Amino acid sequence: MSGFQNSCIITIDGPAGTGKSTVANALAARLGLKCLDTGALYRAIALLALEADCDLSDGDALVSLASDAKLHFDWDQDPPVILIGDRDVSDRIRDLDVSDSVSQVARQPELRTVLTSVQRQVAKAYPRLVTEGRDQGSVVFPDADFRFFLDADEKVRAQRRSIQLSASGEAIDEEAVLQNIRERDRIDRSRKAAPLVRPEGSILIDSTNLSIEEVVDRMACIVRGDGGEG
Ligand code: DC
Repeated sequence: MSGFQNSCIITIDGPAGTGKSTVANALAARLGLKCLDTGALYRAIALLALEADCDLSDGDALVSLASDAKLHFDWDQDPPVILIGDRDVSDRIRDLDVSDSVSQVARQPELRTVLTSVQRQVAKAYPRLVTEGRDQGSVVFPDADFRFFLDADEKVRAQRRSIQLSASGEAIDEEAVLQNIRERDRIDRSRKAAPLVRPEGSILIDSTNLSIEEVVDRMACIVRGDGGEG
């Protein structure tokens, strides 16, 4: 990474349940970079919309929720936590009601424009950044230094998400989790604004049979220029 002392943007995109957040945080820690979870921004707006009983497909209403919300990250925490005003919503935005609503919110182009600009501002403030989501390498940072696309078999993704949810104390119906993942993938891939796609020229990593550690090792090797793609 010697050529990246002042600035290094690494994007990680991919569908739900591939371990993107965990991988992004671990990679950032390994390389001494900050980490941006862009899904948390969409989730926080979905939470606000649920609480305000706002129409999830009303882009303008979502934008005004976003601009009133005082949404920000606390970068002193590791990983950074997301706050609405001074309320830490990092855990609340993972609950199933938010997960069930967030794709609907994320497909609204008006909101995507606003959050894209928020993400670019974060990269200006923290130019040594791992950023993960669905459109980071395709739309938000097409000129990033490294662009990864993380994928995995959908059943494996559903299992991982179930383990995560039960660890946080939620009662789990694995079939419901699989359906939620399938539905979110369908909406994320088929939406008009910034659909989930593998960015052209990005590095594909299939984590179906890899541990988080192995994925991070592979990515870190590529970034450091020691190979590791095989
Ligand atoms: O990664 P996640 O599960 O926290 O993402 C939540 C939702 O937000 C998911 O439906 C995809 C959407 N999203 C998006 O459209 N663009 C991003 N950059 C990040 C997330």
